[in-house]
Amino acid sequence: MNELDTLVDNARAAFANATAPADLENAKAQFLGKSGRITELMKGMAQLPVDEKKSRGAAINVAKQAIEAALTERRQQLADAELDVQLRAEALDVTLPGRRRAGGGLHPVARAQERIEAIFASMGFDVADGPEIETDWYSFTSLNNPPNHPARSMQDTFYVDMKDEEGLLFNLRPHTSPMQVRYAQAHAKKYAGQEHMPDIRVIAPGRTYRVDSDATHSPMFHQVEGLWIGENVSFKDLKVMYLDFVRTFFETDALKLRFRPSYFPFTEPSAEIDIMFEQGPLAGRWLEVSGSGQVHPQVVRNMGLDPERYIGFAFGSGIDRLAMLRYGVNDLRLFFDGDLRFLSQFQ
Ligand code: DAH
Repeated sequence: MNELDTLVDNARAAFANATAPADLENAKAQFLGKSGRITELMKGMAQLPVDEKKSRGAAINVAKQAIEAALTERRQQLADAELDVQLRAEALDVTLPGRRRAGGGLHPVARAQERIEAIFASMGFDVADGPEIETDWYSFTSLNNPPNHPARSMQDTFYVDMKDEEGLLFNLRPHTSPMQVRYAQAHAKKYAGQEHMPDIRVIAPGRTYRVDSDATHSPMFHQVEGLWIGENVSFKDLKVMYLDFVRTFFETDALKLRFRPSYFPFTEPSAEIDIMFEQGPLAGRWLEVSGSGQVHPQVVRNMGLDPERYIGFAFGSGIDRLAMLRYGVNDLRLFFDGDLRFLSQFQ
């Protein structure tokens, strides 16, 4: 093997030994650099006679090209290896399941409320919203429940440390009944002085508050108030309408309704509404779902209407209670614990 072949072999071996691009560039300098082996050989040609120069030059060139080819090949190998490592490091496991965004949904009580609103809207009722922090007058006095009247203690009310013009504390409304008066007042005002006033037909759903907490009572709960006032509205209308409502809400006609005499300051006469399912897990038991009654003449007067001319009924039902019956939930507190294992069952 001549000296040039040995040189090429040495270069190949040196390149093969380089495992990083920087090592390879150092090895290249040894052979192809300014003071590398090939340059030295070229310089050495100066002393040769002219006729030998040509063949010697051609042989060195062949060796130089072989070394350059070996260098290029090794560069490529190192680049490939590097890419390989990178690809492996960044590999995606396409068989992993994707990350799913959890689907949100309405709370069961909100669902029940939407249902109630839709049903009453279909029966021609407006849906009204009102303040949760109320004045004493709207929560009690306007509803024929004067200061110091014992019926006030029917509700353990939360009071707010803030007084109205009469020096009475505001309260967190203990029921949605104040909305009867607020809505009817606005309605009466709108039609004041006119020959004919359309009937008042409204429901007012929303949050209510009482100092009360056990499996069936929560300090915050939901009620829906209903009010229908006109010149010729009677208990019969209440019964037909409410029966229609519960049958639609529970999606069954196998359901009975009864009025049970009761007392509320703002209605006279007053009645609890009980329902009984004829089928299903709750069948055969009377279940209380609402208070109701004919609106007391004093309340009609407080609405700004003439009780000699206008009469009607009101009801107040527990939305949470209706939701519990509809979904078969036996502890009210489950609705408000915020436990997704419970809540996600309703989606
Ligand atoms: N406000 C009553 C309560 O919270 C419920 C009620 C009873 C509302 C009779 C009414 C009604 O409108 O007529 O217990």
